Amino acid sequence: MGDRDGVFAGDDPFEIARRWLGEAEAAEVNDPNAIALSTVDADGLPNVRMVLLKEIEAEAFVFYTNYGSAKAQELDGAGKAAFVMHWKSLRRQLRVRGTVTREEGPAADAYYASRSLKSRLGAWASHQSQPLSSRAALMAEVAKVTAQHGPNPKRPPFWGGYRIVPSQIEFWADGAFRLHDRFVWMRDNPLAEWRIQRLSP
Ligand SMILES: Cc1cc2nc3c(=O)[nH]c(=O)nc-3n(C[C@H](O)[C@H](O)[C@H](O)COP(=O)(O)O)c2cc1C
Repeated sequence: MGDRDGVFAGDDPFEIARRWLGEAEAAEVNDPNAIALSTVDADGLPNVRMVLLKEIEAEAFVFYTNYGSAKAQELDGAGKAAFVMHWKSLRRQLRVRGTVTREEGPAADAYYASRSLKSRLGAWASHQSQPLSSRAALMAEVAKVTAQHGPNPKRPPFWGGYRIVPSQIEFWADGAFRLHDRFVWMRDNPLAEWRIQRLSP
């Protein structure tokens, strides 16, 4: 990859993703870590929604959600997901596809504990993706779980993370005259070496 340099420099795609996210944190008006998370349901119908990327680990991308939600059913059912991030201020895009597993151990406990008390109680109160009769019903649920769990709630068993281990990571950066730069990292399994390929824009 003789001509891969500048914002694409480096061979570790997780390192590049971390670097790009760091630049986006300095440039975006809000939610630089927002990802459009794509799943498929049991009928193969795609679904997509925003979630917040919370960690770029050595070999994986991690976000948190409710295990009773629609997305959780789709993630658990297919075992696969994709996401895209678009940073308008940087005019860059990151695309990831891979397999998913739950993160419901100490890392999930630690992240849950780091959230504000209101967010921790909110996780207990919201039956995410289930029908809700009114805003008042949700507030009543918040009051109930606040009384039940007090100032130091434990992580709900129905709330935790997902870890996406990619088989494909693509970086896209805006270029002059719509001649953008695209590079994709591909591997057949997480133990295999990455193959890096420039793609036509
Ligand atoms: C910017 C943004 C960030 C969000 N972050 C999260 C998140 O980290 N986790 C989450 O469960 N939902 C998050 N949501 C809400 C989801 O988009 C979605 O409404 C919810 O998770 C239910 O999705 P589902 O029914 O497909 O499971 C976020 C929404 C927006 C707009």
